Amino acid sequence: MPTLFDSFEIGATTLQNRIIMAPLTRNRAHSDGTPKDMAVEYYRQRAGAGLIITEATQINPMGKGYIDTPGIHSDAQVEGWKKITDAVHEGGGKIFLQLWHVGRISHHSLLPQGVEKPFAPSAIKAEAQTFTGTQMEAVTEPKAMSLEEIKSTIADYKIAAENAKKAGFDGVEIHAANGYLIDQFLQDKTNQRDDTYGGSIENRARFLLEVTDVVTQVFDAGQLGFRLSPLGQFNDMGDSDPLAIFAYVTEQMNQKGLAYLHMMEQFPGMETSAEEREILSKIKANWKHAFIANGGYEKATGQQALENGYADAIAYGRPFIANPDLVERFRQDAELNEPDQDTFYGGGEEGYTDYPTLEEQKRAA
Ligand SMILES: Cc1cc2nc3c(=O)[nH]c(=O)nc-3n(C[C@H](O)[C@H](O)[C@H](O)COP(=O)(O)O)c2cc1C
Repeated sequence: MPTLFDSFEIGATTLQNRIIMAPLTRNRAHSDGTPKDMAVEYYRQRAGAGLIITEATQINPMGKGYIDTPGIHSDAQVEGWKKITDAVHEGGGKIFLQLWHVGRISHHSLLPQGVEKPFAPSAIKAEAQTFTGTQMEAVTEPKAMSLEEIKSTIADYKIAAENAKKAGFDGVEIHAANGYLIDQFLQDKTNQRDDTYGGSIENRARFLLEVTDVVTQVFDAGQLGFRLSPLGQFNDMGDSDPLAIFAYVTEQMNQKGLAYLHMMEQFPGMETSAEEREILSKIKANWKHAFIANGGYEKATGQQALENGYADAIAYGRPFIANPDLVERFRQDAELNEPDQDTFYGGGEEGYTDYPTLEEQKRAA
């Protein structure tokens, strides 16, 4: 029976264990999207994870929706990430970059000079807010992307993947969850287009499938994962029939031979009902490759999900913020540090690189 501590082949990558660090936005990059040196230390501390999936990272300037998030579209950003991948590899870990475009979840002040509206499949403003540097502000009403804008955005995913390769990543995760651009194309609350990218489930899935195809021209399919959140209402999302669209997506993506599907099953603070669990397992039924489960897992529930064959690996988000040595703590059944929500987003080393390991706590005692 697999345990959290067993190694695992996820596509083309051998993981030292099945405890994955979930992607975690921390808003601590330089304002030009270059990771700061303190991010090298933050990721180095967490190299004991089976796989680190980085914080969401914008593929181009239009993909930015929050202050001080990193990008992967300039040479300086590639250099910054290279230091991080080197540090994680030196620590014996593996690291994938999460490729991100926020779509309509942005504010005009975060977009390139002179651009007034963020991109979206349709011009529907989200009931959502973003942090712009001084305060939380309502997101800006988006514009519906033209076909050329869709094409050039897909091309930018390819360039971003090439940059990720240059930066030394073991692979990439396509962020198709949490109400950002790809998810906005998938779900009918946000996609009301009447061209080949909207309407039928086949059309709404097209953007994700085309993005996946260009990324697999850069990385082997076995170095590529993708993330879905079929039930998430975060960022004002919804679909009239989530089972139909997401079961189609998993069926189509399955044929591409990707390394894994990473499902965010439950948002922090929300419960999933038996009915919702049933929908998730039907969506998952089409998926024949590795499955990473995420959302509210502890050591015991993660272990159980491996034992009953539900998942191949478990991603932990908030526990990894507060416990750089989470794997070791699980191994020893040690107490966990509690994450401090006040330092999740933005700031310096506090709440970022200063959570102690067990060793450090013992030495200090
Ligand atoms: C501070 C914070 C930042 C997050 N940033 C991202 C992100 O960049 N990309 C993403 O897909 N999910 C993001 N999430 C969601 C987490 O990856 C994860 O799905 C969520 O925390 C639930 O897992 P957990 O219960 O183990 O924390 C974030 C969550 C938190 C708390």
